[in-house]
Amino acid sequence: MVNRPRRLRKNSVIRDMTCETVLSKSDLIYPIFVVEGKNKRKAIKSMPGVFRFSVDMLDEEVAEAMAAGIKSVLLFGVPLHKDSCGSEAYNPDGVVPNAIRRLRELAPSMYIIADVCMCEYTDHGHCGIINPDGSVNNDKTLEYLSKIALTCVQAGADMVAPSNMMDGCVASIRRVLDENGYESTPIMAYSAKYASNFYGPFREAAESTPAFGDRKGYQMDYRNSDEALRETALDIEEGADVILVKPGVMCLDIIRRVKDEFNIPLAAYMVSGEYAMIKCAILQGLLNESAMFEAHIAIKRAGARMIVTYAAKEICGMID
Ligand code: PBG
Repeated sequence: MVNRPRRLRKNSVIRDMTCETVLSKSDLIYPIFVVEGKNKRKAIKSMPGVFRFSVDMLDEEVAEAMAAGIKSVLLFGVPLHKDSCGSEAYNPDGVVPNAIRRLRELAPSMYIIADVCMCEYTDHGHCGIINPDGSVNNDKTLEYLSKIALTCVQAGADMVAPSNMMDGCVASIRRVLDENGYESTPIMAYSAKYASNFYGPFREAAESTPAFGDRKGYQMDYRNSDEALRETALDIEEGADVILVKPGVMCLDIIRRVKDEFNIPLAAYMVSGEYAMIKCAILQGLLNESAMFEAHIAIKRAGARMIVTYAAKEICGMID
């Protein structure tokens, strides 16, 4: 008559049948870095297994992603020319619009999400237009971000993902998309994005390290949690269709709070430093390969529906 929870653990079939967290291939969003130029496939040193591709070299990568079962990608562009207002980001013939068109040819059913930010495109590496005093001019930046979003959607992006953390960004992008006939294009908002130390490898990949200062003026303080709920509420009011918490592994508590508070599809981003930390430990034999899988399950168990992850291909190999 003793209640024994272990009855449901002693056999793998019943264990699977009663398991509460399932990871599917369609949960995963695979980030791809696209660089300008030709014939480039360059490893990112701090992210073993992750590469930067020129548009003409996407074929193999996209074929592999499709074969693995990946259904959605998130594109980041790295231009050759950078200037103070990131003009390459809204060039209709720029690196991301070209990548979107190529992807559409290579993988017509792939769901293409375009990152909307300026740090990869500005010569100062900040996510917006800079004031004379070195701070970011929030409202002026909004005009540029809307232009970038529209450029990506016109090139064929299925969804835009503003990662810049400017106040009012979702509303401003929504307005411009609507005015141009793209009422049905959704926005995935990075609602709770922390000024994290775990973005280091991404900044190597995207060449987006700020030339001066840091991003604490616009990204969130990682000591705060209530603030994430306020930021998320604002983005939902402004028209976000999907909200995103980042960095994912460091913010499992935030994912859970946002999930409990709001009834809207929730994504989380396992960021570059989190990926690198686990991947490097696996490569050195300090952890076994399932550690990567466990970290993804943790993000889902915390409440995220979708996961942006550099490990998408290998995770697909671990699930049916
Ligand atoms: C751009 C952006 C960043 C990341 C995604 N979009 C970097 C940053 O804010 O510095 C980081 C993603 C990662 O680390 O994998 N603003």
